[in-house]
Amino acid sequence: MSLEQLLAWIPPGSPDEALARRINFDQLPSHVAIIMDGNGRWAAQRHLPRVEGHRAGIDSVRDVVETSARLGIDVLTLYAFSVENWKRPRAEINTLMTLLKRYIRLELSTLLKNNIRFQVIGRSEELAPDVQRELEIGIRQTAANTGMLFNIALNYGGRSEIVDAARRAIASGIAAADLDERRFSELLYTARQPDPDLLIRTSGEMRVSNFLLWQIAYAEIWVTETLWPDFRRRHLLEAVLAYQKRDRRYGGIKPSPVALSIK
Ligand code: FPP
Repeated sequence: MSLEQLLAWIPPGSPDEALARRINFDQLPSHVAIIMDGNGRWAAQRHLPRVEGHRAGIDSVRDVVETSARLGIDVLTLYAFSVENWKRPRAEINTLMTLLKRYIRLELSTLLKNNIRFQVIGRSEELAPDVQRELEIGIRQTAANTGMLFNIALNYGGRSEIVDAARRAIASGIAAADLDERRFSELLYTARQPDPDLLIRTSGEMRVSNFLLWQIAYAEIWVTETLWPDFRRRHLLEAVLAYQKRDRRYGGIKPSPVALSIK
């Protein structure tokens, strides 16, 4: 997309406008992945039940999805529920699933308006049938959209994804000699998607928590102390600006100006 598309949605004269004007649109991350963390702490700070943090986190999801689409990000992946999250109290899990269903139902028009294609990554076949049905509706109705791809990672684990890919390789009879990194990537849930360039984690924790383990090999990591329910467009713009200052080398070295000047 473009600066104009983004500015059309930002109050003129706001700090967000100043941030948006500093973005280099020729150097955007193609794929942004976010570990949304700190909902429980946000609620605890307000003496509210944990689920109120998740509820408030939905507003951040809305803001980030639309900002990413308007910015021109190709793929946005949000970590909503991990394979480990089943260890949480049943009531919290039920609320998370209800919030998710409601989000898809209420936000479908926004996804369509912004040409966003919605997809789920993770072992979605293990989710409750009513959740699967709602997800299917969102996936089907946005399937023809050509803009940003929005992945929700649900019942997702990086290690289980790699195990699932290995199982698929065996099941499809790929010979060991034919299996290389490119071919293996095509067996992951994120087949044909670019790897994340930018991995954002909220609430200050310095962990990757079993998220996109294969795909984040060369991702730039940006951690903010902000708790997820407080995360807004401004924070995403700050993360993109920080990303644009990084020196990405992919294991190589940065060519020195001297070396560049030698013909
Ligand atoms: C981590 O905070 C957050 C989650 C496990 C769930 C995130 C889910 C949502 C924001 C709602 C549904 C999402 C979508 C995409 C519609 P935490 O509970 O671990 O926080 P804590 O570390 O402070 O306890």
